[in-house]
Amino acid sequence: MPDLLEDTRSGLLPENVITPLRQGEETTNGAATILATSDLRKYYDRATPVLQGIDLSIRAGERVALIGSNGSGKSTLLKCLIGIHPNSGGRVTVMDHSFSRLPDAGQRRNIRRSTGFVFQKHCLVRRRTVLSNVVHGMLGTEGSWRGFSQAIAPEAWRLAALEALSEVNLESFALRRADALSGGQQQRVAIARALVRRPRLLIADEPAASLDPVSGRDVMELFSRLCKQHGITLLFTSHDMAHAREFSDRVVALRQGRIFLDRPSADVTDRDLQETFDA
Ligand SMILES: Nc1ncnc2c1ncn2[C@@H]1O[C@H](COP(=O)(O)OP(=O)(O)OP(=O)(O)O)[C@@H](O)[C@H]1O
Ligand SMILES: [Mg+2]
Repeated sequence: MPDLLEDTRSGLLPENVITPLRQGEETTNGAATILATSDLRKYYDRATPVLQGIDLSIRAGERVALIGSNGSGKSTLLKCLIGIHPNSGGRVTVMDHSFSRLPDAGQRRNIRRSTGFVFQKHCLVRRRTVLSNVVHGMLGTEGSWRGFSQAIAPEAWRLAALEALSEVNLESFALRRADALSGGQQQRVAIARALVRRPRLLIADEPAASLDPVSGRDVMELFSRLCKQHGITLLFTSHDMAHAREFSDRVVALRQGRIFLDRPSADVTDRDLQETFDA
């Protein structure tokens, strides 16, 4: 199934596309909308509409689980929100950048600077150290090359990366090669890399899908907790309904190209879930 990972690999998405919050933006503003769509439509070919009018509004700091059957359009929606795929109709507003078909180049840059991505497969540079992989998360920051002197920047980045690694409990693995870690540990490195510059929005497409149940749960718990702690808005997809309910504030379900369910996670019933996946 096509996913965001492929776009990263194909160069459509730079590996590191996140920036820190500006000063004073660290705290969650529950009232502010960070992401909204209005009648969003998407088809890859005209005969088969994928998204058929999505109206979604996510407030800053919310953690939203996006669920639905295989092929229901979850990954497509994530791509449309950040302008990877052109929308076929409707409007998207992300962090004050509003666009219809695609964001313009400036909007695209700004959106990606403030957005972190975590994928089912972590996309680490295997032969590099863990620390080096997390430091990569700093690249692409506004002024990252010009804003710091060459002498100071690497040290500041290293410190930020070590702090991010300690948040995912992997500080002691900093100098190991990335491919010497287990899958669950590598996914935690990917989380550190995504969070190192404090993105405003974190998008995760099936972040725990390749992990065993225990590691998957650990990763989701960590992920969700760090987003809450730092006031980062989280939008993740999952096929694990326990994860979807437990690690989000709100569950949004897609069915037949539309939002079928949108309610606080605590209120989602087994019946809701069953109906979401009924053919
Ligand atoms: N790049 C593409 N070109 C053509 N069709 C696509 C493309 N990407 C997705 N599709 C189609 O759009 C539909 C939705 O796919 P999408 O990957 O968004 O679903 P999903 O909900 O993420 O599924 P899964 O749970 O399996 O990841 C599917 O029918 C898929 O075949
Ligand atoms: Mg998908």
